[in-house]
Amino acid sequence: MASAPAPKHFLELRDFSREELDHLFARTRWIKDRFKRYETYQPLRDRTLAMVFEKASTRTRVSFEAGVNQLGGIAINLNRHDTQLSRGEPIEDVARVISRMVDVVMIRTFEQSVLERFAAHSRVPVINGLTNQFHPCQILADVYTYVEHRGSIAGRTVAWVGDGNNVCATWLQAAEILDFRVHVATPKGYEVDARAAGLKDASRLAVFADPMDACRGADLVTTDVWTSMGFEAESEERMRAFAGFEVDAAMMAQAKPDALFMHCLPAHRGEEVAAEVIDGPQSVVWDEAENRLHAQKALLEYLVCGRVDP
Ligand code: CP
Ligand code: NVA
Repeated sequence: MASAPAPKHFLELRDFSREELDHLFARTRWIKDRFKRYETYQPLRDRTLAMVFEKASTRTRVSFEAGVNQLGGIAINLNRHDTQLSRGEPIEDVARVISRMVDVVMIRTFEQSVLERFAAHSRVPVINGLTNQFHPCQILADVYTYVEHRGSIAGRTVAWVGDGNNVCATWLQAAEILDFRVHVATPKGYEVDARAAGLKDASRLAVFADPMDACRGADLVTTDVWTSMGFEAESEERMRAFAGFEVDAAMMAQAKPDALFMHCLPAHRGEEVAAEVIDGPQSVVWDEAENRLHAQKALLEYLVCGRVDP
C-alpha cells in the first residue's frame, strides 16, 4: 500500500510562501468578518485539535481552543505534567500515537528540534505554538494587524527593540517573505542571529546599537519581554543589560507620526515598554491579541481542509 503523503506543517513562518501567507490573510479577514456578524462557519465539524503545552500560555491556549470550537471542532489540552512526556515517553512515540487520534496538533515547547521530531513522526499537520527559536502564529497575527490598520507591509520598516529572541527571529523571516525591512536594536550579547533565523541573506536586516536610531522613520515599533520563558535564571542579569531599551514616548517620537506599536504580550510596563506607549494611541496590542484568534482559525482551516476559496 502506498504511504500517505507527508502532511503540511507550520513549524516556521518560512514553511509558507508569500502566496500562502496572502491567502491566509485574506481568509483571516473573511473569517473575522463572519464571526463579527455572528454567522456560524464550521468547516472543522468532527475534527479534533490536540494542544501540547510545555510552557505557560494565556493567548495561545484561549485562541486555539476558542478558535477550533468556533470552527465546529474540539480541542484537547495536554500539559506536559499531565502526560507520559513527563515520565520520559519519547516525543516520537507521542507523535505517532496522538496523530492517529486527532486531525491537527499545536505544540508549545522549548527547542525547535523537539517540534521537528514530533512533526517527522506525525500523520497530521503540526503547528508551532512557540519554541525558543520561533513564534510563527504570533507574526501571522501581527502582520495581519498591520495590514488591517495600514495596508500592505511590503516596503515598510519594522523596528524591533530589546531581546533578539524567538519573536524577533520570526519577524526577520516575515521580512524576507513579505519584502519589508527590520531594524533591530539589542544590548550586546542579545543580538538576533540571522543565520539561525534561517535568512537567505541579511539584506532586510539593519542592526543598531542605539534603539533611538532603530526607531527612526519606522512604520511599526515592537518589543517583547526581556526574559523569555525558559531563561528565568538570567532574569536579574537581563534587567541590568536591558536598561535603556524600554520603548517610551521619546523612542516612538523617532518613528513616523502614524507608526503603530505592537507587543505580543504578556507585557511588563516599566521594563520593555512604558505605560504611556502600550496604553497610548499608537498601540494596537489588543487588536493584535484578538487577531491571534482569527489568524489561527484561517491557519487551521488551511491545514485541515486545504485551500478554501470564498
Ligand atoms: N503572545 C503569546 O503567545 O501569549 P501567550 O504566552 O499568553 O500564549
Ligand atoms: N519571547 C516570549 C514570548 C511570549 C509570548 C517568550 O518566549 O517567553
